[in-house]
Amino acid sequence: MPAQGRLILITGATGAIGGELARRYAAADTELVLHGRRLEVLEALAQECQAKGASVSLSQVALDDDPAREAWLDALPRPPDLVLLCAGMNHGVTHARDGEDGVQARALLELNLRIPIDMARHLAPAMQARGSGQLVFISSLAAWFGLPVTPSYSASKAGIKAYGEALRGLLAADGVGVTVVMPGYVESSMARAMPGPKPFLVGPERAAKRIQAGVAANRARVSFPWPLALGTQCLALLPACLSERLVRWSGYGVEP
Ligand SMILES: NC(=O)c1ccc[n+]([C@@H]2O[C@H](COP(=O)([O-])OP(=O)(O)OC[C@H]3O[C@@H](n4cnc5c(N)ncnc54)[C@H](OP(=O)(O)O)[C@@H]3O)[C@@H](O)[C@H]2O)c1
Repeated sequence: MPAQGRLILITGATGAIGGELARRYAAADTELVLHGRRLEVLEALAQECQAKGASVSLSQVALDDDPAREAWLDALPRPPDLVLLCAGMNHGVTHARDGEDGVQARALLELNLRIPIDMARHLAPAMQARGSGQLVFISSLAAWFGLPVTPSYSASKAGIKAYGEALRGLLAADGVGVTVVMPGYVESSMARAMPGPKPFLVGPERAAKRIQAGVAANRARVSFPWPLALGTQCLALLPACLSERLVRWSGYGVEP
């Protein structure tokens, strides 16, 4: 490993977006720390990244095991220069009225909201002390208005959006950047399993390119594709009774 290459940590690296980000950031002066649960996918990705000259280390630590996760972060050679928190899950409630399973909903809120917050809280002080670094949270355009087909997912993404925006203001004076990414539909196993229509679906390569450009500019928010970003943001601005009707009309409501 180079002595002081750029250290980039990516959770969800075995996923469509995280994996594509790893490929894009792989370079000779870069140390990638890739996290995922599926070892064979991680190892294949590591080979691709190493072929581009990056040094790679892998982790399969259980993200919901707080002591193990913190020990993993404490063992990093130095505070990361960039942290891309891509691990996430969704579970649709389909269009039935029986609602979400409580156990699944808690696991989702844990992975999408509590764990990235805890990871940022754990990593931020050393980045602040050094005076540089960037934290990237993956929210969703679903954060703008709660969708009846995915209540906990919408809540988790609205929560991480608000947290990232707040943290950005808190850490800016210490030279640490924070970016909140709000993708629309990106081709992935998660997107395929989601209920409802998927307008303006983009590939993970295009999504990763947009994310990388926004992160490089330390933008507060990276939203795409623009027609869906505009439409979902309007849902937050309109009177709720109108937004509810638009959401039902668009196919994200539950059957009466
Ligand atoms: N795809 C979309 O349309 C879309 C839209 C908006 C936002 N997002 C967000 O983008 C992020 C990446 O999603 P994606 O589209 O790349 O989906 P994906 O291909 O399904 O990847 C999900 C990633 O999360 C990891 N993961 C899932 N459950 C986990 C758990 N319990 N513990 C640890 N890791 C876990 C997976 O690890 P394994 O593969 O090892 O299981 C995988 O690396 C998520 O936060 C998602 O909410 C996606």
